[in-house]
Amino acid sequence: MDAIARPVPSRRLVQTHFMDGAAELPISGRQADVELSLDGASHGLIDTTHFDVTRFPPPDWALPAFVSAAGCGRAAYTGYRGGSAVRDRCAQAISELLAVGVDPERNLVLTTGTQGGLFAVLSALVDAGDRVALTDPEYLFAERILRFLGAEVVRVPLRAPGAGPHVDLRRLEDAAAGGIRLFVTSNPNNPTGTVYSGGTVQQIARLAVQYGFFVVVDELYCRLVYDQTPFAHLAREPGMDTRSVTLLGGSKTESLTGYRIGAVVASAQIVDAIEQVVAFSALRAPAYSQHVLTGWLRNDEDFVRRRVRELRSPAATGGREPARHHRSAPGTGSGHRLPVAGCLRAGPDLSRRRAAMRSVVA
Ligand SMILES: Cc1ncc(COP(=O)(O)O)c(C=O)c1O
Repeated sequence: MDAIARPVPSRRLVQTHFMDGAAELPISGRQADVELSLDGASHGLIDTTHFDVTRFPPPDWALPAFVSAAGCGRAAYTGYRGGSAVRDRCAQAISELLAVGVDPERNLVLTTGTQGGLFAVLSALVDAGDRVALTDPEYLFAERILRFLGAEVVRVPLRAPGAGPHVDLRRLEDAAAGGIRLFVTSNPNNPTGTVYSGGTVQQIARLAVQYGFFVVVDELYCRLVYDQTPFAHLAREPGMDTRSVTLLGGSKTESLTGYRIGAVVASAQIVDAIEQVVAFSALRAPAYSQHVLTGWLRNDEDFVRRRVRELRSPAATGGREPARHHRSAPGTGSGHRLPVAGCLRAGPDLSRRRAAMRSVVA
């Protein structure tokens, strides 16, 4: 057949569209995306991915760091992993956050947002046909990327017993016993806001060691926790230095969203592989934005406390639906309750999805 008579999007791309509808989405994932970027409001969508980051300004130190790097103009292209001075400072701050050693040369790569990190790490680790376990529900783009890469996705539900929602570890073990390359999850979980207990994190690590799989944990929301809920970083667990990949970024807590900057922490081998994907997909994270990270995660306890308080207030969503929609069990919440695909369609199908979400967060 004439090559250009074929549909333009590659089959690999089309298989990310969820034409079958994801578990909680009555429309395709692609369509939800398009409608939201066109004009969510006029399409009856409530955009919960952006309402907070546009409402809250970044901290005072962000813009001067960016302006001074751009004004200086040197190193417009840094090394693939990011500039070494910025990585030095970041590695130290991240090491304190995670309470694990982070070697700036070996264990850290700066990426174009957490999203760029997610894409790079999955591309670096996953081959077509690999079985990959994924929490359900989960940040929709994780599954779209996995489908793009040709992975076979095995869903591991979040269950909602009396004590609050948690990862169904029996289902994770069943999946692992059948052979999985990795487990992908977000903690706090997007969309439910669930913060995994220390016990759950320990068990995930135990299974990873026992069955020999990697764990990619997206911790973008790890500082937006309510009520002093303890937060357990997977990277800290025994055996996880070589098996875990931690994704971090400043898009949500500090509203650094527009700088498009994130960080991935992993073993030297995994970082090497990620670097190759960064090199051919983006060359490197935006150089001037990287400098914003020199002020990141530093002496900002008051700022974070204030931000969590602001996010909890109904005003954070303009009093609209998501604030009520995303309640979670007491003591397990994070600052975020994002519906699947980062959007809600107002109208009759909202109640169906609300019911689906309730089974998770009630
Ligand atoms: C779980 C999760 N990971 C990654 C991202 C992408 O964030 P960033 O702006 O850092 O690329 C988002 C954005 O909503 C998210 O919710």
